[in-house]
Amino acid sequence: MALSTSAPGKAILFGEHAVVYGKPAIAVPLTQMRAHAEFQESGSPLTIIAEDIDRPPIRWRRSEAASSDPLARITELVMAHCGASTADGEIRLRSDIPIASGLGSGAAISAALARAIAAALDCDLPLRQLNALVFEVEKLHHGTPSGIDNTVVVYEKPVYFVKGQPLEFLRLRDSLQLVLADTGVSALTRETVAHVRELAKRNPHETAVIFGKIGSIAARARRCIETGERAQLGNLMTENQALLRALGVSSAELDTLIAAAMSAGARGAKLSGGGRGGFIIALVDAASSSAVCSSLLAA
Ligand code: MEV
Repeated sequence: MALSTSAPGKAILFGEHAVVYGKPAIAVPLTQMRAHAEFQESGSPLTIIAEDIDRPPIRWRRSEAASSDPLARITELVMAHCGASTADGEIRLRSDIPIASGLGSGAAISAALARAIAAALDCDLPLRQLNALVFEVEKLHHGTPSGIDNTVVVYEKPVYFVKGQPLEFLRLRDSLQLVLADTGVSALTRETVAHVRELAKRNPHETAVIFGKIGSIAARARRCIETGERAQLGNLMTENQALLRALGVSSAELDTLIAAAMSAGARGAKLSGGGRGGFIIALVDAASSSAVCSSLLAA
């Protein structure tokens, strides 16, 4: 038996970081950019090969202690969910999603691998359970994740996400055209989340005000997305970026790309994800998209 599974990347449109503190955020799946898992039957114990993410193969064996390795951890969580103690076969992982770039690569790899293991064991893994298992692994990646990354990656739909609240999918009035650009700088979300946590400890009042403003931007952005008010949506992205800069999670490279997008006619632009590196997203129109792309490439 051979089978393949996958999961998409994601982009956060509004509300990163503040979402960890209970404020709303909006994220969309990046369905063209995916992590893939290919399972092949073999007579040997389960081996996971992840050359794409620069890792030596893992030969999975059940152990008493919870693994701190994300691939081993999702494997043991799925095995436990399926009531299996051993599995045979080989799973090859590959991913089109850049690592440590704010695009949800960790969550997508976990979700694709979990789906492959469950399918190989012929075990039902409903989305709600898959989401809960991937969230467990996100704790290894992010420390104190809000849960937005695993949710958008697993459900593969635009979400309006508030930690601990029932899940809400977003209905877009019109399609939105986004351009993504890579700073080429990798940054760990765990580190930027830890930086913001430190800032919130040192300056609780000032940080709470920023989180509140970001949350209100996300709520207003939801209305713009649902009613199709593009110009206002772009302004809200730019306002959100100023607040992320105030939290200290932007960088010179991100700011350069954002300025390049804006000067070429983008309606709004901001970092997306943990920040300090990774990608920017810019909201464009059909008329401005090619000028924005050229300006970003030149920058
Ligand atoms: C990372 O994609 C988004 C953050 O808000 C962290 C989280 O929500 O877990 C920075």
